[in-house]
Amino acid sequence: MEEYYLGWLNQLEDGLKHWSDWSISGVFRGIIVAGMGGSGIVGDYLSALSLVNGGLPVITVKHYMVPGFVGSSDLAVVISYSGNTLETRLFYESVRKRGAAVVVVSSDGLLEEYARRDNVLFLPVVKGIAPRTALPHMLYRILGLLDSSGISIVSRDKAKRAYDFLTGVMEEATDKAYDIASFIHENKGLLILATHSPLEPLAWRVKNEFNENSKIPVKVEAAPEWMHNDIVGWEKPYENKYTAILVSDPSDRVGSRLVDYMEKIYKENSIPTYRLLLKGETLLEKLLYGSLVFGLASVRLARIRGLDPLKTTSIVEYKKVVDSIFK
Ligand code: PA5
Repeated sequence: MEEYYLGWLNQLEDGLKHWSDWSISGVFRGIIVAGMGGSGIVGDYLSALSLVNGGLPVITVKHYMVPGFVGSSDLAVVISYSGNTLETRLFYESVRKRGAAVVVVSSDGLLEEYARRDNVLFLPVVKGIAPRTALPHMLYRILGLLDSSGISIVSRDKAKRAYDFLTGVMEEATDKAYDIASFIHENKGLLILATHSPLEPLAWRVKNEFNENSKIPVKVEAAPEWMHNDIVGWEKPYENKYTAILVSDPSDRVGSRLVDYMEKIYKENSIPTYRLLLKGETLLEKLLYGSLVFGLASVRLARIRGLDPLKTTSIVEYKKVVDSIFK
């Protein structure tokens, strides 16, 4: 599975090559991105990028209900790597009834069929890999579409610079990933992923990666919200074993200090900590760097534990019964 992550440069390259291949016309009030798991996280990344770079508001939906306000002045991006996820398919059917402009992003499956049947814009992504490992391709497909449609969140130039940046850090990211995997395995305990705003989407992504690839539960804690609830939980926790990974952006002075504060509290609770300083100049570069390091770390941890990172048996089992649950 490592090769899927090491293949991210090819995904980005293809994203850049086809950057302007698709566009959508219209004046939109906002963008709703719907998807689950490794597909849905793309919506969270778009939302953070838009927040920082100043694009249209992006709302991510990780279920099947279309928010009440969505209507004909909105753009709905429906993402499912497999194209078959029920929650996402239900969202697709409902959002079309609302009259929103719809775009489907998928590698295959029923959603591709629906898009072709309904004459809906379809953005194809690389086939035959694990959904979560197609993150850069799905992200660049949508960023390219938005940029070519006059509602840019990231320009092609910035996307190209992020590609160049990632090319230069591949080797270092792999070393860092091995370090992190060893740190987690040596300390064991419930993993806490701590960060600061606006990096929450990266923390959720990392949580998902350790869940799916390494088969462990993970707790996400993000400052400054952390200072208004989680912090009190650390006053009297039950006697449990924890391990904390802290992620901060060194160019964000306040964010870094907030994470310093979190680290102090974890240390007072005798929790072993590891700090990753994100590399890169732009938020896009930082998100890609963090996603790569932790993606590789989660695969490495699975290997250390003698597990297959690719297999997500419980998700497969759930998908077998999901129709009967939703019936
Ligand atoms: O990464 C994974 O395998 C999962 O998180 C899937 O992305 C999730 O189950 C949704 O499937 P899909 O991305 O095919 O819609």
